[in-house]
Amino acid sequence: EKIVLAYSGGLDTSVILKWLKETYDAEIIAFTADIGQKDELDGLEEKALATGASKVYIDDLRDEFAKDFIYPMFQAGALYEGQYLLGTSIARPLIAKRMVDIARAEGATAIAHGATGKGNDQVRFELNAAALTPDIQVIAPWRLEEFRNQFPGRAEMIAYAEKHGIPVTASAAKPYSTDRNLLHISYESGVLEDPWFDPSADENKDMFLLSSAPEDAPDQPEYLELEFEQGDCVALNGERLSPLQVMEQLNELGGKHGIGRVDMVENRFVGMKSRGVYETPGGTILFTAHRKMESITMDREVMNLRDSLITRYSTLVYNGFWFAPERLALQALVTESQKNVTGTVRVKLYKGNVIGAGVKSPVSLYNPDIATMEADPSEAYDQGDATGFIRLNALRLKVHSGVEQNKK
Ligand code: ARG
Ligand code: SIN
Repeated sequence: EKIVLAYSGGLDTSVILKWLKETYDAEIIAFTADIGQKDELDGLEEKALATGASKVYIDDLRDEFAKDFIYPMFQAGALYEGQYLLGTSIARPLIAKRMVDIARAEGATAIAHGATGKGNDQVRFELNAAALTPDIQVIAPWRLEEFRNQFPGRAEMIAYAEKHGIPVTASAAKPYSTDRNLLHISYESGVLEDPWFDPSADENKDMFLLSSAPEDAPDQPEYLELEFEQGDCVALNGERLSPLQVMEQLNELGGKHGIGRVDMVENRFVGMKSRGVYETPGGTILFTAHRKMESITMDREVMNLRDSLITRYSTLVYNGFWFAPERLALQALVTESQKNVTGTVRVKLYKGNVIGAGVKSPVSLYNPDIATMEADPSEAYDQGDATGFIRLNALRLKVHSGVEQNKK
């Protein structure tokens, strides 16, 4: 029997690797998606093998992550509960997809993950896997009573790791849990469970890895030009770049200027509220610039329709329905809405802010001749027409206010 485990090299998945092998007497294939965790990947293969994996996949999926997941989601303007740019949520479907592919290629009977039974990630891994294949078995040790009994706390896991010669890294000692990829780092649980705890306070702020604090960011603003084609950023300051390169450069710049920190209490799909702290430096620049690009290139009613669907779209991504037919249908609408989102946006990065500083497009719908307060040279708009326009719109309001007045 073979089991494909989504492996991060952290304490939890290391213990799970060993535990699965012992409990199911199975071959464990460790799989890690490189989606931009950087130094977390160092020494991972050796570690997985030393922990008992029969085979290790460390697949560089960074290009695919940027191009086929992050970019389409940013076309939609997705934002969960008004603040969260979905950095973890959008990575899960890609990991699930690759896990399913590996399971097929290896003839494995099950996939396993280290997500807890109280979170979103379990739902995302499993729903996205289900959407891709009808017949894969899932093992989620944290949902098994015997596993929870054996490991009631971190201490038991650390003891188990030491007993089996699994090196316990410094990150296991951090008083919170993190998830890092090309789009963000998330921080949750532990000391952060108290929403009054302030991670931005001077004594706590070395938690943050991607960004400097806005108050420590440079006193000089930095200008940046982003070029868009059909809703995708294709160049920075005139240099053509792949989606991966765009994200990397934006992270660098955003991090330097203290951009993209969010501290929120969000609603998990499984019902509880949860406190999350996020650093999304590049994503925050991209999000702001993309909307600015849309402001001159998108038809009003198309924008209105797309915007009315942002909550739906974001919730689908958050809840694990990336590969569901309704997300694909929504995506088709989003992609259509982006056909003319082409041009250049200039922003100024300054102490945690992305400040709009100009926008232009060869397919701009913005017409200063029509909008101008000066005499209208285009004759497209006759001010006299507004009289009838307002009168017709006022009709039902007058009927209504008349009824209200008669009540008094
Ligand atoms: N709360 C965020 C989300 O649900 C981040 C989850 C972080 N996951 C993790 N395994 N540390 O998308
Ligand atoms: C977990 O519970 O495994 C992490 C948090 C989440 O999935 O929401």
